[in-house]
Amino acid sequence: MQIFGVDIGGSGIKGAPVDLDKGDLAEERYKVLTPHPATPDAVADGVKEVVGHFGWTGPVGITFPGVVTGGSTIRTAANVDKDWIDTDARALLGERLGGLPVTVLNDADAAGVAEMQFGAGKGRKGTVFLLTFGTGIGSALFVDGTLVPNTELGHLELNGHDAEKHASTKAKEDHDLSWEHWAHRVQKYLAHVEMLFSPELFIIGGGVSRKAQKFLPLIEGVKAEIVPAQLQNNAGIVGAAMQAAQTA
Ligand code: BGC
Repeated sequence: MQIFGVDIGGSGIKGAPVDLDKGDLAEERYKVLTPHPATPDAVADGVKEVVGHFGWTGPVGITFPGVVTGGSTIRTAANVDKDWIDTDARALLGERLGGLPVTVLNDADAAGVAEMQFGAGKGRKGTVFLLTFGTGIGSALFVDGTLVPNTELGHLELNGHDAEKHASTKAKEDHDLSWEHWAHRVQKYLAHVEMLFSPELFIIGGGVSRKAQKFLPLIEGVKAEIVPAQLQNNAGIVGAAMQAAQTA
């Protein structure tokens, strides 16, 4: 069975049909740049372009980089235009896609759902976190495989800052931090999350998971196991499609 997945990120909107048996993209993904400002209207046009590229006419799962309740309502918008707050994203995006059935969920939650089923979290019990490092920091919490949605741990306070302003990959790029310097910040962040939740496993996702060997070996003193995401930057697309399949 195939369902379409779209991942709305701070830099790109990407999507592809997903093979739900394999947990992988069924075709090469298509990406457009995220518009700036990333208003609901402009982003909806981007989503339409991505879905339209494949001529898709079935259900669509869509991730959003903020709190999403009930598969539909946007509650926060840290890295996209604030006009998103209180938007009914399911109605907006469904209408822009010509009435296709749409499900919306948080981007990190989507990536986590995919990693738990098909990737680094497969079969893992206990407390597991998927953390995405990108424009922001996203978090997905699983307890014995069940998602606790919208945890938003990217906004914990770290060194007096919003953690994602200090330890996201955007912070690394903006401040031209070395891998060593950035890994030190990530280590402090993980230690903070560990102090609060004592997870057994951290799965590190986002685009930077491709370069895990550059920074994971530099992280010390965290008791939990730390592994890179296996679906890497496609996890959001796959998880969005999985969610849409459940609600379709
Ligand atoms: C948002 C989260 C999102 C994360 C990654 C944060 O700024 O608040 O909802 O998961 O960025 O995109």
